[in-house]
Amino acid sequence: MTELFPADPAAPAGPTAPLDPAAAAGTDRLRDLVAAELGRARDRTTVLTEAVDEGDLIRQHSPLMSPLVWDLAHVGNQEELWLVRDVGGREPVRRDIDELYDAFKHPRRDRPQLPLLTPAEARRYVATVRDKALDVLSGSRLDGTRLVDQGFAFGMIVQHEQQHDETMLATHQLRGGPAVLDAPPPPAPAGPVQGEVLVPGGPFTMGTSTEAWALDNERPAHQVVVPAFHIDRAPVTNAEYAAFIDDGGYDDPRWWSPAGWDHRQSAGLAAPLHWARDGDGWSYTRFGRTQRIVPDEPVVHVCFYEAEAYAAWAGKRLPTEAEWEKAARFDPSTGRSRRFPWGDETPTAEHANLGQRHLRPASVGAYPMGVSPLGVHQLIGDVWEWVSTDFTGYPGFVAFPYREYSEVFFGTEYKVLRGGSFGTDRSACRGTFRNWDYPIRRQIFSGFRCARDA
Ligand SMILES: [Fe+2]
Repeated sequence: MTELFPADPAAPAGPTAPLDPAAAAGTDRLRDLVAAELGRARDRTTVLTEAVDEGDLIRQHSPLMSPLVWDLAHVGNQEELWLVRDVGGREPVRRDIDELYDAFKHPRRDRPQLPLLTPAEARRYVATVRDKALDVLSGSRLDGTRLVDQGFAFGMIVQHEQQHDETMLATHQLRGGPAVLDAPPPPAPAGPVQGEVLVPGGPFTMGTSTEAWALDNERPAHQVVVPAFHIDRAPVTNAEYAAFIDDGGYDDPRWWSPAGWDHRQSAGLAAPLHWARDGDGWSYTRFGRTQRIVPDEPVVHVCFYEAEAYAAWAGKRLPTEAEWEKAARFDPSTGRSRRFPWGDETPTAEHANLGQRHLRPASVGAYPMGVSPLGVHQLIGDVWEWVSTDFTGYPGFVAFPYREYSEVFFGTEYKVLRGGSFGTDRSACRGTFRNWDYPIRRQIFSGFRCARDA
């Protein structure tokens, strides 16, 4: 497997081990890495768009989602804008379609009515763009400007396509009809993981200034003083969540914030999305297959308000974003923040459930190799974890390469999610990576864990 961030024995000790293309045998090696990552993203896109027929590509499976064929051409259009036109300075492939595939011009619910490229046209378009992008890559020095330094623009496009692959996987989950996707089950738990750990109070380094392909909202690295707190060693499981439901948690406004209770009432929430009563228990429909919920699997498809209510019922609260990142990255023996809970090593199949390798979260305890120095499990992969913090810029934030990447979303409307899910690729997931969504959203692969004051 190609390593996105090659281990670099010459890398200086520091808050994070940077990708150092010069020390890692220069531009040719970096070009090979970029090409391999672009290829890996396209392979996943191809699986997700060839698994269904033409009708399912064009159809809108939920007003929350784009038609799959929109995602496909949008991925190509962003690649054209950034790599072919901006980095490469080449002539447009299809300037006429820019507006159709601008996510800011058309909300998702309107996209099926647009004169979109057909599936065959979209496939030809993304292939043409890719050929040109690879040609640009072969002639690019990958340094000299911030946009291309260490391959950043290419890394941004890799992450963008992988993020849309996760979005397309969420669309597959909302699609009706027989199952079309398949994957082996995740590893079984190596042993029980329960309870919580105490994270000592004090400063730690949050965010990054050195991670080569980190996005603007992860930057810069900065010190944050976090008082001592307890955090769950594992995400909240289906069995734990079912106990909240059985205890009348959805009917007791004590556990809900005012906004959460309003939403619970108006949306008629009674269980996670895709759950249904099954005798005295629950079943869950996942990618077209219905089965009983797996008790020790992290709960998924809950919104922020449901997570918040569960935590209150359990006598706890959601962690803040800084608490989550400290639990994930802080190494008390060195005082430094790691790239990942287990260290600086790029995720492998032993560390975390990422990359759509398995199409479900793994049971708690399945990734002992992925544990943090303080003993917290499965922070990376399995389910995105809601935290209590609004999405805002870090001190010293500078929008790059454009305000629409992150800055226009800053404020009180969006809550942060951390750690990635089984649907997230490793190229779009690290200890500093930040995702955000509306607190009512649950079509995403979202779960949570709890914390409390020490
Ligand atoms: Fe996009």
